Amino acid sequence: MDNSLAPHATWSLPVKGDASTAHSDHAVKTDLLTPPFTRPSSPSPARAQASERYAPPSTAFLNPQDYPRRQLTPAVGLRFEPEFQIKDILDLPEGDPKRAALLKELAYTISLHGVCAFPAQALSADDLLVLAAALGRASGAPADSDLHIHPTAELGENGRPTVAAISNVAGSMGRQINFRDERSEFASMNVHADISWEQRPARYSMLRMRTLPPTGGDTLFYSTYAHYDKLSEPMKEMLSGLTARHSGSMFREQSRRFGYKLHLGPRGAPENVGDSFEASHPVIRTNAVTGFHTLHVNQTFTERIEGLTIDESRMLLDYLFRLQAQSHDAQVRYSWSEGDLCIWDNSCVLHSATFDYDPTLERSGDRAVFVGEQPYFDREHGKSRKQTLQSVV
Ligand SMILES: [Fe+2]
Repeated sequence: MDNSLAPHATWSLPVKGDASTAHSDHAVKTDLLTPPFTRPSSPSPARAQASERYAPPSTAFLNPQDYPRRQLTPAVGLRFEPEFQIKDILDLPEGDPKRAALLKELAYTISLHGVCAFPAQALSADDLLVLAAALGRASGAPADSDLHIHPTAELGENGRPTVAAISNVAGSMGRQINFRDERSEFASMNVHADISWEQRPARYSMLRMRTLPPTGGDTLFYSTYAHYDKLSEPMKEMLSGLTARHSGSMFREQSRRFGYKLHLGPRGAPENVGDSFEASHPVIRTNAVTGFHTLHVNQTFTERIEGLTIDESRMLLDYLFRLQAQSHDAQVRYSWSEGDLCIWDNSCVLHSATFDYDPTLERSGDRAVFVGEQPYFDREHGKSRKQTLQSVV
């Protein structure tokens, strides 16, 4: 049964194929449904009306009848059935309009729900790269966006520097994703948006799990749409004028500690270069795909709200991090099976691994990350997800 919040558009994409399954809208304001699904990569009030900038695409191809799915929670997460093999989309000819339409509809669906799970996917690491690039571009990412190369990546690993082999087992250069002596006993301290310390952070991340321990190793996802919607109007107003400093300086420390060389860029965008691993981003960010506002801070990488005293910044961040960690109505916990693929939009969800399994057992997978736009707050055209969808959370 489809219980997706995805708005059903009343128009069809100008493509060939079976578009007879377009659905009527019954719950979402009609100004969300106006084509085309195109936007500038950065806000420019003179360039488009709201109705054009964040319009959802048709669901003519990725419709619930042909692609059954169920929501994992009202706030975040959607799970498709194993019969949906993403490789089937990738195998369509590049010029096939059905391929383009499916990728565009899939990108919007992921950004709307924050994370989508695709069980039992037959995908190679090379397929993952193709998918990441195709999906990122279909979502309307800037033309110079590309696959991210993490500064700690073991370049040349499998000959694929933009696929990170995520593993709790140290690589040949000592690279790990988690260090026991650096870890808080508060598991939620690990919550983050991928590479939020880059000038141009990640849009989509995707992880296909290869090897799992018998139990444990779940990933938690947190809706930053819902975090924004939990704020009072005066708090939203104050935060929407502020920026925060994000830092990945721990990677410099890790390179010193283990003596491996950092990749200094470019890392998926011309702006993502150098070894500062720091960026200033708006505290309230508008998702560039859906136009919904989000709370854009995370306790792994966000160090300081700028323009406030250190005390005010600490107090405010403490409150916001507590809101994120304790709002379990804005979270979903995903229990992986081998072969599962999850794709999430880092500009509307945070995530956290769970280190609750025997550390001698392997938990590994392939991850690809596609870089998006410079984060922005679109006061004029952006909206609340909760108000727009009339959702409870
Ligand atoms: Fe991550």
